[in-house]
Amino acid sequence: MEFVAKTLFGLEEVLAQELKDLGAQNVQPLKRAVSFEGDLKVMYTANLYCRLAIKILTPIYEFQASDERQLYDQVKAFDWTKWIAVDQTFAIDGTVNSDFFSHSKYVALKMKDAVVDQIRDRKGRRPSVDTTHPDIMLNLRVFKDQCTVSFDTSGELLNRRGYRGRGHLAPLNEVLAAGMLKLSGWTPERPLHDLMCGTGTFLLEAAMMAANMPAGVFRRKFGFVSWQHHDPVMWNDIRKQSSASINYDPKVNLYGGDKDNRSVNAALASARLLRLEKKVKIERKLFDQQEPQAFSGMIISNPPYGERMPKTDIEAFYSLVGDTLKKKFSGYEAWLISSNVSAMKHIGLRPSRKITLYNGALECKFQKYELYSGTKKARSAQ
Ligand SMILES: C[S@@+](CC[C@H](N)C(=O)[O-])C[C@H]1O[C@@H](n2cnc3c(N)ncnc32)[C@H](O)[C@@H]1O
Repeated sequence: MEFVAKTLFGLEEVLAQELKDLGAQNVQPLKRAVSFEGDLKVMYTANLYCRLAIKILTPIYEFQASDERQLYDQVKAFDWTKWIAVDQTFAIDGTVNSDFFSHSKYVALKMKDAVVDQIRDRKGRRPSVDTTHPDIMLNLRVFKDQCTVSFDTSGELLNRRGYRGRGHLAPLNEVLAAGMLKLSGWTPERPLHDLMCGTGTFLLEAAMMAANMPAGVFRRKFGFVSWQHHDPVMWNDIRKQSSASINYDPKVNLYGGDKDNRSVNAALASARLLRLEKKVKIERKLFDQQEPQAFSGMIISNPPYGERMPKTDIEAFYSLVGDTLKKKFSGYEAWLISSNVSAMKHIGLRPSRKITLYNGALECKFQKYELYSGTKKARSAQ
């Protein structure tokens, strides 16, 4: 079977490697996506384990259309009764990159009309649409006049791991956080410190990696359970095996601090839910009052971007981040992400790597700083 795993900009290569490690074949990085082949077992495993995919689609129908009438007729020509039962709910998610069609919501609506009309004509009743918790989630992608309909095997987005309680303040997307850990080259042997951990996304993702805990361990529902090809026995076996291979006592050193009490409490609650609270130390503390927890390790942080702060204040903030790194964390490697590139210059350290990523719609730089004691010149002369 063919699949397309959707991801975020910049994570295509690391997702491709993750899929290969999970047994996928013919893995090809695309733009914000990776295509691969595999059987049912690979698809179940990828949905359960993938930390770097947002959703996994399987194409079921391709056609050409250059106006809405053609789109309606072509959709109606496919036998939807094999995919959607009258008592199931469904939803269609559309993406458009075409001169023939301009609105993704409109093409999805046209497709919905054709699906409903056909099932009503054939069965006398029609399935309902449910955009929040549908049984069957379909995806329509229109590129020029090429239309691809895919079945969404994931259903709810895979970044929704299920470890967050309610009322979280704008945390980092879990897929982005896991992808940044991979891009940085972090492995569980390396002490990890987040100076402004907020709700703890980096630390929670790192803890799950160290524990070999599947990303989807808390998800109750996946799109494929309503699929005609679903094999519940195989799926239960995969789930059971994955639970048995979790190590709740991994050797890992994870530390985070944040000035905001509510965020710290939310991070601790998530760690407890994962049953990894003994592995993640999180405190309410300003970043410049935090101390290294190891001789040498890695810092990964997502400081405020300062959209609502005066320019001089955010520059002074980044300057204090730079001073803290230099004074306290020599021997560490630090990775910071921010959309505020001009404020990042006030860190006062030369980045040894710069990676472009997007945090939602914001273009960001994810930068690496080597924190040598003394100057780099003095170190290389040693
Ligand atoms: C962009 S958010 C980080 C979000 C986090 N990565 C998450 O996934 O929830 C920035 C964080 O910096 C924290 N912060 C701001 N100033 C701070 C300071 N002086 N010391 C420690 N934390 C600070 C804020 O409370 C906020 O949680």
